[in-house]
Amino acid sequence: MDGNGRWAAARGLPRVEGHRRGVEALRRTVRAATDLGISFLTIFSFSSENWSRPPSEIGDLMSLRRRFIRKDLAELHKSNVRVRVIGEREGLDRDICLLLQEAEDLTRANDGLTLVVAFNYGARQEIALAAQRLAADVAEGRLSVVEVTPDRLGSYLHAPDIPDPDVIIRTSGEQRMSNFLLWQAAYSELVFLPINWPDFDRAALEGAIGEYRRRERRFGGLAATGAT
Ligand code: IPE
Ligand code: MG
Repeated sequence: MDGNGRWAAARGLPRVEGHRRGVEALRRTVRAATDLGISFLTIFSFSSENWSRPPSEIGDLMSLRRRFIRKDLAELHKSNVRVRVIGEREGLDRDICLLLQEAEDLTRANDGLTLVVAFNYGARQEIALAAQRLAADVAEGRLSVVEVTPDRLGSYLHAPDIPDPDVIIRTSGEQRMSNFLLWQAAYSELVFLPINWPDFDRAALEGAIGEYRRRERRFGGLAATGAT
């Protein structure tokens, strides 16, 4: 979800207005994903690196996220959405932690769209934490060194039961991963859209899925036609 600030700047508005409109885009996207029968939608809500922004902007982003959960949780629950949160809880304000926990607890039994919220998330941090926990298991004899395989390391990540993303969409024209799901994205199709996040809507989502469908996924193998 990139480009909120640029969306606002282009209109002579304060950045926070872009973030507000970004929340509306998120609402539209969750609804569209549900309608389209998508099983998993992961949103990059706040990155480990976003703490480097000015305190006032961090304050705005946090308030908007608090308000989103308070206002939208009941609706999400009614729509059978299951909320999962990935990222570091340590260092977050207690009230935010409680809200994230409440969202997960309330929607635990829902079996519609799983909305994965990456909050205070960084992929390298996630992988390093997985390595720490794995190393502890090796050090304490619960695991042997030769058992350290990609699947095993993957099982120590924040949400190992959630499948790797088929497609990753980034708005605003930037073409980089910015520490998002680096492990899980090994074979994801990447779609970069020139529009800013507040302009993202159902048509944009459908367009990105259309682009994804035109790609040929080979996972390192050969094309179905036998071409190399
Ligand atoms: C995305 O928009 C907001 C977050 C998810 C933190 P930005 O705030 O990054 O907007 P630009 O990149 O400055 O336009
Ligand atoms: Mg940005």
